[in-house]
Amino acid sequence: MFYREKLWLLREVIGKAGIIKEINIQGFKSLRNVRIQFPTNLTIVVGPNGSGKTALIESILLLKEILDYIKGRNPNPFGKWWGYRNVVWMGKTERPIRINLTVDLSNLLNILESIENKLEKKEVYGISSFMVDSLRGIVEKSRTIGYSIEVYDRGGIVSVREMIKADTIDFKMQLTRNSMKILYSSKKIEPLKSIEISPLPRPYLLLDKYIEFTRLINAGIPVSDAFENILDDYGYLLNLLKDYLEVPKFIVKLLPWTVVIFGTIIDGITCIREVDLKSIRSPQPLIWYDYLEYNVSNLIPVLYKIGRGRLTDAMEHALQVLFENTSVSGFFSLTPEGTVFFKLAIGDLELPPPSIPNGVWKVLAIEAALALNPTILLIDEFENSLHARVQEYLLDEIRESGVTAIVATHSPVPVDYTKDLREILVLENIGCETKASRLENVEELNEKLRKLGITASEALLYGFIKN
Ligand SMILES: Nc1ncnc2c1ncn2[C@@H]1O[C@H](COP(=O)(O)OP(=O)(O)O)[C@@H](O)[C@H]1O
Ligand SMILES: [Mg+2]
Repeated sequence: MFYREKLWLLREVIGKAGIIKEINIQGFKSLRNVRIQFPTNLTIVVGPNGSGKTALIESILLLKEILDYIKGRNPNPFGKWWGYRNVVWMGKTERPIRINLTVDLSNLLNILESIENKLEKKEVYGISSFMVDSLRGIVEKSRTIGYSIEVYDRGGIVSVREMIKADTIDFKMQLTRNSMKILYSSKKIEPLKSIEISPLPRPYLLLDKYIEFTRLINAGIPVSDAFENILDDYGYLLNLLKDYLEVPKFIVKLLPWTVVIFGTIIDGITCIREVDLKSIRSPQPLIWYDYLEYNVSNLIPVLYKIGRGRLTDAMEHALQVLFENTSVSGFFSLTPEGTVFFKLAIGDLELPPPSIPNGVWKVLAIEAALALNPTILLIDEFENSLHARVQEYLLDEIRESGVTAIVATHSPVPVDYTKDLREILVLENIGCETKASRLENVEELNEKLRKLGITASEALLYGFIKN
């Protein structure tokens, strides 16, 4: 199995395990403190202009941009907003932006165990039984774990701090690139012990370790060996503390899993924010991307790679829905200069890129994003260029994929097409602060809508659904 496939499958398992329980954003634009839970895998975000829909999507995308920053791919994650001041809540530059993720490990364990049972092979997706056993050991102690990342800018220097928290024991760890601080109490009655190592011999952020993990796999090392490598690394560090603090084995096991889970989640964030039609319509260099740019500018080479020079069945099927069952097929042309472009055949008609309807690109972008095994799929202005029926079709595709998806829209179509009102997240900006709420008492609400004889979107519009 090639390294890319190993990481790919790991991403698929983690992305579809439904492990993300909660995302909490603090201090990003209007999101002073917003907490979102995921009762359903699909979340449809609605709210007036300026309520914070785009901000919500950007804040989650920021996690991936921080990973790129640590990789050295992006010199400043706040550059595109013209600086930190414009992004932090109310320009309060002395404050950090913080994003907390909570995951449910028991879901992941169930999935890994069921895969393990089904297949006789010990190495499943490159995950060894040692890894599964260590996860079992963690779940016995803590069902959920929290990971938070804090980012701030001091005079143009961006700093990152991470925190890990287990739910049932008093354990907290704070990491920066040159210090590690542990707060731990072995018994509930004992006061928390706090211990710090600084400076660290080299960067030990979980994201640093995730980058190392993927490099090792890239170099042909099995997933389980790369995992043990991280385990040994943190083990070495914690061993330095042994005279002061007896760090339980549970924590030593927790760290590599935290690296794998949160690194994979963050690396797999996939976002469609806008569609750069100009790039899509001109021939693109044929580069082997394994991610989609958030403006979809690299859509054509990504599609070429996913279907190995063809559209996938899922893509062709979606286009058939768009063209009301007319036979449609897409094909790629390579130029002698090493670029690639896409043409569409509708019945006997052949369309060059400039004549292809915008909805086609949007459908292909969403299908490509799904084919890339995202861990979190973010789509802003979902309805743009899409006919109602196509919106419904794509929403079902997203629901069925099982991926945690956050889809922002102004259209009533997704709201009325929901089969579960808990999918809807309502945003409001009250006094420079976004308030987010899921609908409560869904049964009562359904009954009310039925009595009023109106749809969910009408109810939202006329204010019958109060937060
Ligand atoms: N640094 C900031 N602090 C507080 N609020 C901000 C900051 N930057 C932008 N905003 C506000 O956040 C909101 C962001 O809205 P946006 O996410 O673009 O809305 P939507 O996508 O729902 O139309 C706007 O109301 C804007 O005024
Ligand atoms: Mg917006």
